[in-house]
Order: sequence, then C-alpha cells, then structure tokens
Amino acid sequence: MSTPLPRFLVLLLILISGSAAARAATLSISCGAVGVELHLCRQGVDAWSHQTGNPVKVVSTPNSASERFALYQQILASHSSDIDILQIDVVWSGTLAPHLVDLSQYIGSDDTRRFFPTLIANNTIDGRLVAMPWFTDAGVLYYRKDLLEKYAAQPPTTWQQLTAIARRIQNAERAAGNPRMHGFVFQAKGYEGLTCDALEWIDSFGGGALVDADGTVTVDNPRAVAALELAASWIGDIAPRGVLNYDEEQSRGVFQSGNAVFMRNWPYAWALGNAADSPIRGRIGVIALPAGGPAGHHSGVLGGWQLAVSRYSKHPQLAADLVRYLTRYAEQKRRAIEGSYNPTIAALYRDPDVLAAAPFFGTLYPTFEHAVARPSRITGSKYARVSAEFYYAVHDVLSGKTAAAPALATLQRKLTRLSRGGQW
Ligand code: GLC
Repeated sequence: MSTPLPRFLVLLLILISGSAAARAATLSISCGAVGVELHLCRQGVDAWSHQTGNPVKVVSTPNSASERFALYQQILASHSSDIDILQIDVVWSGTLAPHLVDLSQYIGSDDTRRFFPTLIANNTIDGRLVAMPWFTDAGVLYYRKDLLEKYAAQPPTTWQQLTAIARRIQNAERAAGNPRMHGFVFQAKGYEGLTCDALEWIDSFGGGALVDADGTVTVDNPRAVAALELAASWIGDIAPRGVLNYDEEQSRGVFQSGNAVFMRNWPYAWALGNAADSPIRGRIGVIALPAGGPAGHHSGVLGGWQLAVSRYSKHPQLAADLVRYLTRYAEQKRRAIEGSYNPTIAALYRDPDVLAAAPFFGTLYPTFEHAVARPSRITGSKYARVSAEFYYAVHDVLSGKTAAAPALATLQRKLTRLSRGGQW
C-alpha cells in the first residue's frame, strides 16, 4: 500500500497544475487586416505563443474603422469573453473605456514612460490606462518622384499647387498613352477615413477641427467652406468619380499599380509601395500634406491603433502580458521596418535601422508629433455620431448633391444640437 503524500506536497501539486493550466490558456486577439497588418500581427503573436506556450487565436476584423467599431460595440455590449485583446482606434478609448481593463495593474510606469505621453494621456480615461499605444498614424502625401521629374514639377506645398500639377501630369500621361492615369487619389467613401481626409483639408486651410477645445462647434466657417469647395472640384477632374467609394486600400491599389500621380494615405503604404513586387518600387516620395494656400498650414490627422484587454476576458493578466510583448521596443521596431508602422516609442525615431527602412519617419517627425486630433476627447461617447454626420455631409458635397456652404451650415446646427450647447 502506498503511503499518502504529505499535505503540503498535495497542495504544491495542485498549485503547480493550476498555474500550468492558467499558463496554457488560449487567448484570442482581434487585429486589423489593412495591407500586411494581419500577417505582422500573427507573426508577433506566434513569437509570444512560442515563448510562453499559450495558443492564441488571431481574429481578423473589417478594414473599415466604422464597421470595426460597430462590431466591437456588439461584442462588448453582450459582455462576450470571445475576444481577450482588441485592437482599438485612437478615437475609441473614451467610448470603449467602460468595457476595458485598467492595464496599469499589469504594465508599470517603467514601461509606459517610453511611450509618447500624448498617446498615454489619450488612453488614460478617469485615471485608468485602458489601452497601450501600438502604432501611430498621420496622413501624408505620396507622390511619384519619376513623374514629377519627367514634367519638371516640384513637390507641391499648397493644395492649389497640387491641383495644378496633378491636372497637368494626368492629362499629359493620358495623351501619351495611359488613359487610366489619375492626378490624385484619397479616401472619400462615407466612413471614418473621409472624416480624417476632410479634417485635414479644413485644418490646412485654417478652418479648425470641427469642435474647439471648449466644446463649441466651429465647422461652419469660410475657410472650411473654401477647403471643401476645392476638394469637390477634384472629383471628375484630377480624381476619378470612383474615389467617392475608395478607402485606404482602394486608393493604394490605384497608386501602386502606377495609375496616380499623388495619393493621400497613412504611412503603411510606404512599405507596400516599395515591396519587391510593386510596380512603383523606388519611385515614391513622401511629404507633408499641402497647406491650404499661403495663409494655411501643413496638416495631418492623428490616427493609430492601441491594444486593449476586454473586461470580459477570462485571462486578463495573461492578455496584458501579450499586450506588453506586442507593444515593446523590439516588436515595434520589427513592425516599423517590415510594414512602416509608426512606432509609439519616441526612441525608435532615432533608431538607424528604422530610419533606413522608412526615412520619412525622420523627415516628417514634426507631422507625426503635431498631428491634429479628431474631436473624440471633447465629444466623448458622441464622437461616432459627430464623425458620421461630418462624413455624410462631406460626401454629399463631394458628390455634388449639396454646395459646401449650406452643407456646413446644416451640419453646424445638427452638431450644436447634439452637443447640447457645447456641453456634450
Ligand atoms: C487609420 C487610422 C485610424 C483611422 C482610420 C480611418 O487606420 O490609423 O485612426 O480611424 O485610418 O480609416
């Protein structure tokens, strides 16, 4: 007959097997799938899995930020534990905060200190760190260096110059045998991407950022009207009518196949445009978006994505460990080099390997540092409504349904009503 195990040994065994079970938990993470995003996410996650022995399911989500937001709202409203880690947009931290874990319990200030303080502040809601910044974004202007050289044009510094250069080169290339050439492509489908593009036009004309820091709606002003009038004039002239249905990837498709002189997009398009199979590899320039005339300034909307842990996760501590791994220096460096995703750790902008892979991270640093924020902080949980009203109105102007001045006057009234007189 075997002797019974001493009580402390039994307890120890229970503890060990318990923690082994905890360690082997399966996590699930939702990642974006724009460009090489999903692939890079999977590689990072696999490396962590390999190191820790925990399997992770990678769930891909819709490319459109607006659709992804709607999906997250459904999942979180049902308190589902299906997704442990969510990749969330920079404008969602406030709205989704009640459903997210306070990561400061797991990720200390030694780690967070290295990140851009503005992003940590953006993700800190009522003192809770609800997400870790994964990559940041700002709108930039891509151009075909070879075409500008061929037609002896300088990279534009104002939208008016861009319009003239785009028209000249587009028409000359069409006459020379490429009927599919377009002057300028961007994001004008009715979704969050159009909010970003249109805010850049308006801000670059000195027309503000829709709502000011006090909560007052400012969108109806002569500069904003001038910005939208110029943008509307592009449709069917330097931009195809189809742009009214373009998101980031559709714009990139046209530009990367060699059929556009200029493109507004986020930094991720750089790595793909210079990939081995890209027809325009080595022929791309990147500069700040143009100013709205001599009185305007260069602009770029702040975008970017964060990693958050759902409050309904059954393994919050383990999930936070994966978040820490994915957002750390080495992993951000890999993603910056392979996918030109802008790091959220300032020191990476001085890393020679990163700068060699994406030189504009250095030259456009001020654009990234001073990117203009969408009014998500001040409008709080109403931001999605504000943005949707804005992109509907802009889409109507671009498609010729409404003139810019009355569209912005109506929008001003709607948003003011929604704001309850600026109180939000
Ligand atoms: C990019 C930005 C994000 C923005 C989205 C709009 O993914 O990083 O902040 O909301 O584009 O399409």
